[in-house]
Amino acid sequence: MKSTKNQPSNPFVLSGYFSSKYFCDREKETARILDAIQNHRNLTLLSLRRMGKTGLIEHIFNSGEAKNNYDCFYIDIYPTSNLGEFVKSLSKEIIGKLDSKIENIIKKAAVLFKSIHPIISFDSVTGKPEIEISLRNESRPETSLEELFSYLQQKESRVVIAIDEFQQITHYPEKNTEALLRSHIQHMTNVEFIYAGSQNHLLRNMFTAYNRPFYQSSELLFLQAIPLISYMPFVRKKMKGAGKEITPEAVEYLYNEFLGHTWYMQYTLNRLYTSSLAVITPLELKQQLDEITKENETLYLGYRNLLTPTQWTLLQSVAKEKGLKEPTSQSFTQKYALATGSVLRTLKALVEKEMIYEENGTYFVYNQFLSYWLRLRY
Ligand SMILES: Nc1ncnc2c1ncn2[C@@H]1O[C@H](COP(=O)(O)OP(=O)(O)OP(=O)(O)O)[C@@H](O)[C@H]1O
Ligand SMILES: [Mg+2]
Repeated sequence: MKSTKNQPSNPFVLSGYFSSKYFCDREKETARILDAIQNHRNLTLLSLRRMGKTGLIEHIFNSGEAKNNYDCFYIDIYPTSNLGEFVKSLSKEIIGKLDSKIENIIKKAAVLFKSIHPIISFDSVTGKPEIEISLRNESRPETSLEELFSYLQQKESRVVIAIDEFQQITHYPEKNTEALLRSHIQHMTNVEFIYAGSQNHLLRNMFTAYNRPFYQSSELLFLQAIPLISYMPFVRKKMKGAGKEITPEAVEYLYNEFLGHTWYMQYTLNRLYTSSLAVITPLELKQQLDEITKENETLYLGYRNLLTPTQWTLLQSVAKEKGLKEPTSQSFTQKYALATGSVLRTLKALVEKEMIYEENGTYFVYNQFLSYWLRLRY
């Protein structure tokens, strides 16, 4: 099948958002976020990497409720490294939506903004026109930020701004960025914000440490795995659409191996969808997982060289336990011949390297494919 704007060639989408047809569940979360926006509450969306934050924001922005009631803007600030780049990213998104014709955009922006200039550039590969932003005074991006926010504030309509990978602002050299943004945001009555990012200490601290500007300024939503009860019919229906049968046991097997972690399940199913198999049982599923992890073996063996022998052994044991609850218990340390005294320190080092994560006192390997491979191999 040829891929079009609204129809992917494979129903197990791995990046970008096509339509609600290819998006599973998230009904409660969608309702909760829309309710927050409606009632002027800013919201912070946190989850493990690749659980579905960006997809959820796109899903919400594509909903009738958002389209009919709000002007929605989305920026991913992961590639930005200072306030100037942040301002340019936001300017590009806002200015880019002023009109559908690029020439009109330039004209309108010239009237609206004194310090922000859009320039037309042409993509070197596709030749397509694109907007680039230059700031009148590159050394004072805060002036342009103020201009952008006052433009939004005087709009008749209500506005939603989603800032993805928000923790990135903590890496900017301008240490006052948090305070600067907060001071603008708190005065705007028609603009709501969704901040999204991965659930590590950076973003969490920003909103929960009392001495930080964003302390308690928004409600927190921790995005969990899609429940199996929703994912099961979604998967089976999509496979059926291609004349394939996947057994409930196979879906359950996949879900349990990866603890419902969205991207890993979607990736495996994307691969299975293109295979010639007519029926997928746990056996075929396992074969597919063996194949995927085998392809990545060199990468996984590379991790071994980056870790100390103790870290590597502990990583294996966390993978095997599929959730390690009591790392210092004698039964655990004896089983894997680990020195009790160093377990907590080693776990901390692995968490810092984002090789494992901790949730409610239980430790898991972050990369679910690596985790599967470690269970298989060791
Ligand atoms: N509700 C859903 N139904 C089906 N697929 C989904 C759903 N949500 C996310 N996905 C898929 O899961 C993968 C991860 O989603 P997404 O990129 O939104 O996660 P993320 O939390 O933003 O990740 P990151 O932390 O890396 O930015 C993508 O392949 C996406 O297409
Ligand atoms: Mg994302």
